[in-house]
Amino acid sequence: MKTIIAFGASSSTKSINQQFARWASEQMEDVEVRLLDLNDFEMPIYSMDREEASGIPQEAKKFKDLVNQSDGILISFAEHNGSYSAAFKNTFDWMSRLGRPIWSDKLMFLMGTSPGPRGAKGVLSTAETSFPHQGGQVVSSFSLPSFGKNFSSDIGISDSELKNEFEAQLEKFNKAIHETQDQETSATT
Ligand SMILES: Cc1cc2nc3c(=O)[nH]c(=O)nc-3n(C[C@H](O)[C@H](O)[C@H](O)COP(=O)(O)O)c2cc1C
Repeated sequence: MKTIIAFGASSSTKSINQQFARWASEQMEDVEVRLLDLNDFEMPIYSMDREEASGIPQEAKKFKDLVNQSDGILISFAEHNGSYSAAFKNTFDWMSRLGRPIWSDKLMFLMGTSPGPRGAKGVLSTAETSFPHQGGQVVSSFSLPSFGKNFSSDIGISDSELKNEFEAQLEKFNKAIHETQDQETSATT
């Protein structure tokens, strides 16, 4: 069975993006989901001096191993001042020191949500633009505005237009993951 890793790019224990990433990953068909928590990869703030003095922390290697062992990656981004949360950026910076391609050519579904109407579109756009240059195959993306209004844990996305848009993006990601499986199956038989 194919495996994906999923996480909210936030270190908040009440993260709406972690909640959204978990829910979205549960809508995937026939995949094993490894739900990650960035708090399990907390590291000192990246600096070249620190890297020279002490090397790359084990947590970064653990994170990159999980990326490498997956067939796809689903991330929901918290937007902090228009950009990545410090927790995500730090994990990303340390992981990037382990060689290229940073995202190991994995298929990606990028999402973002916020309490306000912009739905983390700023940070999502940054990731969509830069990840293809950082070794990620961005297949799908989706922004959910006004999380409190448009999402509930029992029904998921409540707005029908947003739900349709999400489902179309999810299907694209699902299909890409399973097409990879077909190619691999045919290559080994
Ligand atoms: C330091 C900080 C900066 C923020 N900047 C933005 C922002 O630029 N745009 C936005 O829509 N929300 C911003 N917010 C609000 C976040 O969208 C909100 O806290 C959201 O819950 C973060 O996602 P999370 O719950 O997954 O951590 C900011 C919050 C913090 C704490």
